[in-house]
Amino acid sequence: MPELVVPDRKYMGTPATAPGPSGREMLPAFAAIRRDPLEYLNRIWQTFGDIAQFPIPRPPSYLVSHPDAVKRVLVDRPREYSKETIQYRALSLVTGGGLLTALDSPWKEHRLMLQPAFHPRQLEPLVRQVDIGTRRLMAQWSELPDGALVDIEQAMLRVALETVGHALFTEDLSGDAADLTSATLDALEVVVARARVPITPPVWMPTPANRRLKRANATLDTAVSRIVALRRAGQPSSTPDVLDLLIAARNLGGQPLTEREIRDEIVTFIVAGHETVAAALTWSWALLAAHPKIQDQLHSEVNAVVSPADLRLDQLSELPFTRACIDEALRLYPPAWLITRKALSEDELVGAHIPAGALIIMSPWLVHRHPDFWSEPNSYIPSRFLDGSVTRHAFIPFGNGLRLCIGRDFAYAEAIAVVARLASRFTLSYPDSNVIPDVNPSVTMRPIGGLHLQVKTRIG
Ligand code: HEM
Repeated sequence: MPELVVPDRKYMGTPATAPGPSGREMLPAFAAIRRDPLEYLNRIWQTFGDIAQFPIPRPPSYLVSHPDAVKRVLVDRPREYSKETIQYRALSLVTGGGLLTALDSPWKEHRLMLQPAFHPRQLEPLVRQVDIGTRRLMAQWSELPDGALVDIEQAMLRVALETVGHALFTEDLSGDAADLTSATLDALEVVVARARVPITPPVWMPTPANRRLKRANATLDTAVSRIVALRRAGQPSSTPDVLDLLIAARNLGGQPLTEREIRDEIVTFIVAGHETVAAALTWSWALLAAHPKIQDQLHSEVNAVVSPADLRLDQLSELPFTRACIDEALRLYPPAWLITRKALSEDELVGAHIPAGALIIMSPWLVHRHPDFWSEPNSYIPSRFLDGSVTRHAFIPFGNGLRLCIGRDFAYAEAIAVVARLASRFTLSYPDSNVIPDVNPSVTMRPIGGLHLQVKTRIG
């Protein structure tokens, strides 16, 4: 990395405290950022090193890519770095005050209230359900001619949506759950589209996108009201789903969540737990298909564990190589590729002064490819996760510290169960050459043009 050389720059009177592009370089950069934000961030990192300052006066904005500095922000001083950023403000147009976007004081109480929904005992039925969904998918694939081309991304999105839907609502016969889910995804699309243009009209302006957002939010409100009312009127379930737990939750003062709070948490779980898991699964297959020997190794492991009987939670710990294949996919293609924070007080990161109010941009994509922490950073080497060589804080697909992803174990259980079950029966390969698709970084990382692989039944 180049040494920290701070050119004598000022942005509208504010002196720069770290190296970075000049204002003149920034104007043409907007098009590059819109075209390929990852490539742009990578270029900034390659050019300026582990801390770079963008020529934006308010707020002063820094790209921080050194794992130690990222640890300082997320783990060592989490209360000094808040989620009050443009990224989370945009997301909260859909998720409201839900856990992902909540600021410090309401967040703490909600995290405690929601923790039971992610207790390990909830993972047992989750794995069973994922296995049912995966075997349904396998039955469909078995009907296809051997070597048929399958849209793997869509298949993984479907499995992930079914899983998060089931964890939230078990079976919902009224159709409200389906309305709620599609309205959430609709609203999310509007928010992502907003983030892609530099100037967005305020939400009160009746533009087509804002009207769509308003409609989606109204559908969400109605669907949640009905679902909650139906649940409250029904018998309590012996195997509570997340909705049951949200309805039963009490804060420190003994008060239940309001309907609005329940809505925000449900929407948050759909937003945070659908595309992320689907992306982890999709990239796992994109990489495994490009590395047939690793896929064979995976097959040997799963063959010894997975049987025609239901997959159980305790069996997942017997699949360390399967998990390593997923971890290595999460390293190379972290679904949440951007994490932002606002500095509440001044600090020093990578030798640079950070003023209070600064925007800190951290990209797991860059942290996961830092050459001081990863050998052959761009290669797919799952075994690195088994030989003890990984520095923990250089691997942050689920964030780190206080705001670590609450759904991490849920996501691992789901991803391992899906990959193991599919790998026990099928080989997935590219139809022509093993070229992994390029990335489209949106809410998560998606393969440009999707991922279409040949599915063949394994013999033996
Ligand atoms: C591979 C899948 C997943 C990835 C890569 C992922 C990634 C992340 C990351 C990076 C954060 C921290 C963001 C930050 O610090 O700014 C986070 C937080 C969160 N995630 Fe996940 N996530 C995944 C799956 C899930 C699932 C399945 C759920 C729920 C069903 C979920 C719910 C949440 C929530 C509620 C938070 C906020 C936690 C808090 O602030 O207390 N995530 N996730």
